[in-house]
Amino acid sequence: MGPMEILTTSKSINVDFHVPLRHQLRFTNDCFGADWSVVESLLESEHSDPRVQVWIDHGVVASSSSLLFRLNECLSRSGRIQLTSPPHEIAGGEQIKASPDLVEEIFATMNRDGLDRRSYVLVIGGGAVLDAVGYAAAIAHRGIRLIRFPTTTLAQADSGVGVKNAVNAFGKKNWKGTFAVPWGVVNDSSLLECLSDRDFRSGFSEALKVSLLKSESAFEELYNAASEISQRDMLKSLKVIQSSVMMHLHHITQGGDPFEANEARPLDFGHWSAHKLESLCDYQIRHGEAVAIGVALDVVYSSLAHGLDTEVVSRALETLDRLGLPTYHEQLEERVLFEGLEEFRQHLGGRLTLTMLKAIGEMTQVHEIDYAKMRQAIAYLKDRSKRSGQEDHHE
Ligand SMILES: NC(=O)c1ccc[n+]([C@@H]2O[C@H](COP(=O)([O-])OP(=O)(O)OC[C@H]3O[C@@H](n4cnc5c(N)ncnc54)[C@H](O)[C@@H]3O)[C@@H](O)[C@H]2O)c1
Ligand SMILES: [Zn+2]
Repeated sequence: MGPMEILTTSKSINVDFHVPLRHQLRFTNDCFGADWSVVESLLESEHSDPRVQVWIDHGVVASSSSLLFRLNECLSRSGRIQLTSPPHEIAGGEQIKASPDLVEEIFATMNRDGLDRRSYVLVIGGGAVLDAVGYAAAIAHRGIRLIRFPTTTLAQADSGVGVKNAVNAFGKKNWKGTFAVPWGVVNDSSLLECLSDRDFRSGFSEALKVSLLKSESAFEELYNAASEISQRDMLKSLKVIQSSVMMHLHHITQGGDPFEANEARPLDFGHWSAHKLESLCDYQIRHGEAVAIGVALDVVYSSLAHGLDTEVVSRALETLDRLGLPTYHEQLEERVLFEGLEEFRQHLGGRLTLTMLKAIGEMTQVHEIDYAKMRQAIAYLKDRSKRSGQEDHHE
């Protein structure tokens, strides 16, 4: 075929193709000690010893005096790992996602260390640090291998196996971000020990969310274990975290829409108001606490608008009470309703699509909200929290 033919022929070519992806999730009890071999086995090296850069959440280092020492021991004991620089401590919590300078610093450090696409970035921290370092690792050279070590209950139950990363921009959550499958995820139980009670509890709102969406028996289990979880019963807590992470993993790998091309995003149940609430409170409440309130709101609304059994509503709210999580916040007012829905729609692209519940495990996608009923749901939660004096026992 000559060049003229190319110029004169009009064609459309569509080729579907699939990229094989793999999730590698490991459960350990002492990843920077007895279980270090599990970590090492994730560090494949094709030609030379693996080059590794490490990032650690400052909050973890500050509350676990021995962690850095144990980590360094493992890294140097290995013999085959080329550490590109000593582990980097990084600010924890939402501030890392909200500070462009800190994110630039991660990029600069990756560049300074000469990381390439076969290098490994190990990130140890809460969901915010995983998101920020994961974002930088996904962008640098269009993707460096990322191994996540989630250190909060929320990150172990939910975001650790997520295929998303993000930082905040223009005052909006997760405005900059990519979809990227991590190279590996290590859910280590010992990393949760130094977590504050507040952060320990707050992760279970995501476990409640996914159980309501997917499984009656998981919901029952959480309902029954909630008081003991709030007292940090590790066996019960780990069981719930494990079942939650497996439901998230299953949804991502088998749900048919890992990169959220569809309008429906069930795992975002309760999140439209949660995200807005977080930003209205200037991130003074935790993501998990905001999700607790967002789930409470959408559960009550689901009952008013979609026939969710009121018995399920009371049990879901009771679960949050038992976990020591909030179900209302004074900022949950008109602004959340109007701006929250609009920002969520923009984030999705196209028309508003929210997941609501008809029953446990039975979702419905809605494109419109009945404002009167949503206001009624807010008023119900406000009244309920007043009656129980709930606001008093939160920081
Ligand atoms: N990418 C996703 O799919 C996804 C999903 C859910 C949530 N998220 C994001 O995750 C973030 C919330 O994460 P989070 O709830 O894990 O909290 P977080 O990362 O905000 O951490 C909360 C606090 O706990 C500290 N900390 C973390 N681990 C600790 C430990 N083991 N011991 C002592 N202190 C520790 C941190 O330094 C921080 O001060 C939000 O930004 C949210 O948007 C992302
Ligand atoms: Zn969430």
